[in-house]
Amino acid sequence: MLQKWEELEEVVKKCNKCKLCRTRQNIVFGVGNKNAKIMFIGEGPGADEDRLGEPFVGRAGKLMDMAFEAVGIKREDVYIANIVKCRPPMNRDPEDDEVVACLDYLRNQVVLVKPEIIVLLGRISLQNILGKEYKITASRGKWVEKKGIKYMPTWHPAALLRDETKKIDFIRDLKLVVKELQVNN
Ligand code: URA
Ligand code: SF4
Repeated sequence: MLQKWEELEEVVKKCNKCKLCRTRQNIVFGVGNKNAKIMFIGEGPGADEDRLGEPFVGRAGKLMDMAFEAVGIKREDVYIANIVKCRPPMNRDPEDDEVVACLDYLRNQVVLVKPEIIVLLGRISLQNILGKEYKITASRGKWVEKKGIKYMPTWHPAALLRDETKKIDFIRDLKLVVKELQVNN
């Protein structure tokens, strides 16, 4: 399965393994430091991401940037990717067949980046990485360690746009991540 960055990117850029290929404008491969200690995994591209080909560049992304700044995370130091690399129409949840088709790409990215910590942004990310039995409300803010990687589930940044009170949780969870990294490095 494992491919090097160049090969992987080339394969993904031409991918039509699922029906999302028919409605996308651009594939959103992922961006950031390929040796990052922290990786962020979102759900899938929204309209802005689809237009620009980069993850988290719309409203939710701007909010995430502000949270990064508040806790001292630099976007260029982390790696950011999504569960699916093409936009689901009308921002619906990615369907299981789409996730199954796409997830190997993300797994390959994780193997290549080798992060110490993976921040799971929202329910879709959490359940597709750790399992459907995980509930975001119960899991957020709590470490889960699996196969040498520490996972921190937290709210999806778009949820912060709908509910201001979640911002406090989000910042708190990111602070835990920063602290964990300081302890181990
Ligand atoms: N929401 C996501 O889950 N990912 C993005 O890249 C943008 C918005
Ligand atoms: Fe391929 Fe993933 Fe895009 Fe589907 S979402 S077409 S599997 S890159």
